[in-house]
Amino acid sequence: MIDDKTIEEVKQRADIVEVISDFVQLKKAGSNYKAISPFVDEKTPSFFVSPSKEIYKCFSSGKGGDAISFVMEFDGLSYLEAIKYLAEKYGIDIQEQEQTPEQILVQNERESIFIALNFAKEFYHDLLQNNTEGQSIGLSYFKERGYDLKTIEKFGLGYSLEEWDSFMSSALKKGFSEDILDKAGLIVKKEEGKVYDRFRGRVIFPIHNLTGKAIGFGARTLRKDKKVPKYVNSPESQVYHKSDVLYGMHLAKRFMRDQDNCFLVEGYTDVISMHLSGIENVVASSGTSLTDNQIKLIHRYTKNITVLFDGDAAGLKASLRGIDMILETDMNVRVVVFPEGEDPDSYSKKLGSTDFSDFLKNNAVDFIRFKAELLSNEASNDPIKKAETIKDIVHSISIIPDSVKRSVYIKETSDLLGIEESVLLSEQNKILIQKRKEKSKKAERETQDQLLQLNESGVKTIEESSISGEEIIALQEKETIRILYTYGADEFEEDDHIYDFILSELEEIDFKTQVYKEMLQLFKDHLDKGNVINAEYLVHNAPHHIKNEAVDMISEKYLLSKEWEDKFEIIVPDEKANLGKMVEGNILRLKFRLVQQMIDEKMDDIKRSNENTSHSEVEASLKQFNVLKQAEIQIAKQLGIVISK
Ligand code: UTP
Ligand code: MN
Repeated sequence: MIDDKTIEEVKQRADIVEVISDFVQLKKAGSNYKAISPFVDEKTPSFFVSPSKEIYKCFSSGKGGDAISFVMEFDGLSYLEAIKYLAEKYGIDIQEQEQTPEQILVQNERESIFIALNFAKEFYHDLLQNNTEGQSIGLSYFKERGYDLKTIEKFGLGYSLEEWDSFMSSALKKGFSEDILDKAGLIVKKEEGKVYDRFRGRVIFPIHNLTGKAIGFGARTLRKDKKVPKYVNSPESQVYHKSDVLYGMHLAKRFMRDQDNCFLVEGYTDVISMHLSGIENVVASSGTSLTDNQIKLIHRYTKNITVLFDGDAAGLKASLRGIDMILETDMNVRVVVFPEGEDPDSYSKKLGSTDFSDFLKNNAVDFIRFKAELLSNEASNDPIKKAETIKDIVHSISIIPDSVKRSVYIKETSDLLGIEESVLLSEQNKILIQKRKEKSKKAERETQDQLLQLNESGVKTIEESSISGEEIIALQEKETIRILYTYGADEFEEDDHIYDFILSELEEIDFKTQVYKEMLQLFKDHLDKGNVINAEYLVHNAPHHIKNEAVDMISEKYLLSKEWEDKFEIIVPDEKANLGKMVEGNILRLKFRLVQQMIDEKMDDIKRSNENTSHSEVEASLKQFNVLKQAEIQIAKQLGIVISK
C-alpha cells in the first residue's frame, strides 16, 4: 500500500499542465490552455486546463477533475494506480513494503488482480530464462525466431511449464487466494471442482495496459498438431477488456505521436518482428477486427493509420468493412498489402530492416484509392458489378467527416474508374442527405443540452417544455450549490455571509438530487467545525462524484466565459457585481420550480380523484392547490415573470 505522505507529495508535485501535456497537445489560451478533447471526436477544442485552479474540463464529454482524475480517466486507472504513475513520473519514492500474505488478502480486489498478474508475468519470465524446460523449449524457440534477450525483456516474454498446477501452487504459497487467481483469469475452475493452470507448456506473451502493466496473456503452443488451439488467451476480467486493448500500445504510444502514424498488424509476433526491424509505432488487434474503442485509443496519439495486410485476398475483402469505421473518425488510412503468403513477420525477416522499412514506405497506398483499384479490377467487364463498386466506394467516401477530403477523393475516384464526377457526387449526396436526416434528431438534443448548461444565470432562457420538471429542479439546485461554494464566504448585506442567507432559506427545502443534498450537508458539516469550504477544496479532497460537480462549478460559465462568448455568442455577465441580487434570485427560482412541481403533483391528485374519493379529500386537495397557486403568483411577481396558466 502507498502511505498518505506519498499521496500528499504526489498531489503537490503533479503539475496539471505537465501531466496532461504527456497525452494531449495543449495550446495556450489566455491564462488557460485548450485542446481538442482526447475523449471525443471534435473539430473545435472544448478541452480546457486551468493551471491556477489545477483542474481540467472537457465540455464535449462533461469530464473534468484534477491531474489525478485525468490520468485515471485517460488511462483507465484506479486511484492508486494513478498515484503510482504520477509518483514515477516525478521521481517520488513509493515505499512499498514487501507484502505479507495477510496484506495481500486485504488489498482491494482490483489491485490484487493486478498484483497477481504481475506475479504471473515475472513467474513465466523467470521460467523462460532460468528453468531447464523453459530454456530448452521456450527460450530456444524465441531465439530461433530471432528474438534477442533485449526483445524478450522488452515484451516480458515467458514460458509456462508442461504441468497442471506449477503456477497455481506457487501463487497460493505466495499468499494469493484461489478466488483472485480465478478472477485474474490465470487458472481454470471446472464445475466438477477441478482447478488447474490456464497456461501450460506454452510460450507467454504478456498483454499490457497503457502504463505497461500486465493485464492478460496470450500463450502460444509450440506443437505442430492441429488439435490444440494455437493460442490460449486470458479471458475478460475486471482489468482486461479485450475490445479496449491493443497489443504493444504501451510501447508504441510515444512513437506514434513522434512519427504521427500508427502501423496496425494482426498478431503478437508481427508486433515483435516490426520492433526487431526498428519500427516501434506498431500495435496489433490480436486477430480480431478493430473496435471503436481501439480506434479512439489510436486517435489520441495520431490521426494516421497504416494497416498491414497479409497477402491473402479473401481476408482482405473481409477487412475492408472494418476500415470504414476508421474513416468515420476522420483518420487518414493507408494500407500495405504483402506479397502472397507473406506477413509482416515473415517478410521483415526476408528483407532485413532497411529494405523492409523501404517496402512499407513505398507500398503504403491511400485506402480509398486502394479500394477503388481493387474493386475496379474485379468489376472491369461487368456493368452490374461496376455499379455496385461505385456505390461501395462512394459509401466509404461519404463516411469521411471532412468535406474537403471528400471532394478530393471524389475527383480521384472519377479519374480512376473513368466515371463522371457528377455521377459520383449525386450518389454521394443521396447518402449524405439520408445521414443528415438520421443525425438531425440527435443534434437537436445536443443543442438543447448545451443551452441547458447556460440556463439560470439569467443569461439565456431555454425552451423549458423540452426538459422535465425534475431536470429543471436539479439544475436549479446545482446553481444554488454552486453559489454556495463559490461565494459562500462573501458578504451578504450587513454582518451576514452569503451562506447565512442561503442556508437559512434552504431550511424549509429538501433537495431532490442526491449529490446536491450531499454537497449541502458537507458544507454544513464543515461550517459546524468553523470552516467555510469552497469548490476548490472539493476538487482536491472530495469523493469522485462530488469532485466532478465541483469542477463543473468552477469551470463552467465563468472560468471559460470567453470561450462561451466565442462559441455561442453569449455574453456572460459579471455576476460578482450583483451578488446579493443574484443570490436572492437564485433562491426564488428554486422555490418557484419546487412550487410548480408541487402544483403539478396536486393537479394529478385532483385529476385522479373519482367516485371513491371522499368529498373532504377533494376539498383539501383543491385548497392546497389554491395555496400553491398563490405562492406561485407571488414568487413570479418577485421574479418579474408573468404566468400564463
Ligand atoms: P496468427 O495465427 O497469425 O498468429 O494469428 P501469430 O501471432 O502471427 O503467430 P505466428 O507468427 O504464426 O507464430 C494472429 C493473432 O490472432 C490471435 C493472436 O492474437 C495472434 O497473435 N489468435 C490466433 C488467437 O487469439 N488464437 C488463435 O488460436 C490464433
Ligand atoms: Mn501471423
